[in-house]
Amino acid sequence: MSNESTVKTVVVATVLSVVCSIALAAAVTLLKPIQTENRELEKQRKILAAASILEEGKGSKAEVNKLFAGLERYIVTIDTGDFRKVELSDSFDMRKATKDSARSIKLTGEQDIANIKRRANEADVYVVRNPDGKLDKLVLPVSGYGLWSTMYGYLVVNSDGNTIGGITFTEQGETPGLGGEVDNPKWKALWPGKKIYDADQKVAIHLIKGSVDPSRPEAVHQVDALSGATLTSNGVTHLVQFWTGELGFQKFLGKIREGGI
Ligand SMILES: Cc1cc2nc3c(=O)[nH]c(=O)nc-3n(C[C@H](O)[C@H](O)[C@H](O)COP(=O)(O)O)c2cc1C
Repeated sequence: MSNESTVKTVVVATVLSVVCSIALAAAVTLLKPIQTENRELEKQRKILAAASILEEGKGSKAEVNKLFAGLERYIVTIDTGDFRKVELSDSFDMRKATKDSARSIKLTGEQDIANIKRRANEADVYVVRNPDGKLDKLVLPVSGYGLWSTMYGYLVVNSDGNTIGGITFTEQGETPGLGGEVDNPKWKALWPGKKIYDADQKVAIHLIKGSVDPSRPEAVHQVDALSGATLTSNGVTHLVQFWTGELGFQKFLGKIREGGI
């Protein structure tokens, strides 16, 4: 058959596209577990950084896995604040629970300040203990809409149930250099030491445009907003306020304050 034959062209093109499709499907299938593992490693790395256990971006896979294995995991019933310990490897998936109408609630417009539409009934939190076994920090999952995306992350709260230990975002689609600065270690370093609740146990933490004036008493509840990204910053204020509020972890944090974990 000559090289100019239409049949030969069609056969070669068909064989080539089938081979490429098989190669692509195989690559996707083979790479999926690696991607999942890398995502999990990145999540662990960020949680460890937010909890001041490991410097951001540092640590080999083995180091990160080892340090993370020292954490404990609990499932919290959000409405009551009750909690139970589970294995770190427990299959609970809060994102899946949020999509399941039997395991989540639909939020009304007034309730939904973080713009997340549904809230899971249960959440998984990580507990960091001191070498003596006493509670050091709690790592709470948080999520909320910024300007372009739902931002997922963790808020670290110290053992007093009020002082922030850190914050991190594991997934967000804000503009790099603007809203994407939520993931900038320099900005995240502004959070530790800030207080979530005021003397009346009302949620008081919020971002402010410009710079926080440390001489003012309310400074303890304020964090500098991201410059040029007021809308993402508002999203961060709302997500932190939602997840530390009545529909979030307020009851759980109250129980920790009273009786520990
Ligand atoms: C291409 C483009 C991307 C932007 N991305 C963001 C963003 O990720 N987050 C954000 O809050 N504002 C973003 N903005 C800016 C907003 O439209 C708005 O101007 C800004 O939030 C106002 O913040 P400022 O009052 O601090 O200037 C973007 C604007 C443009 C043109």
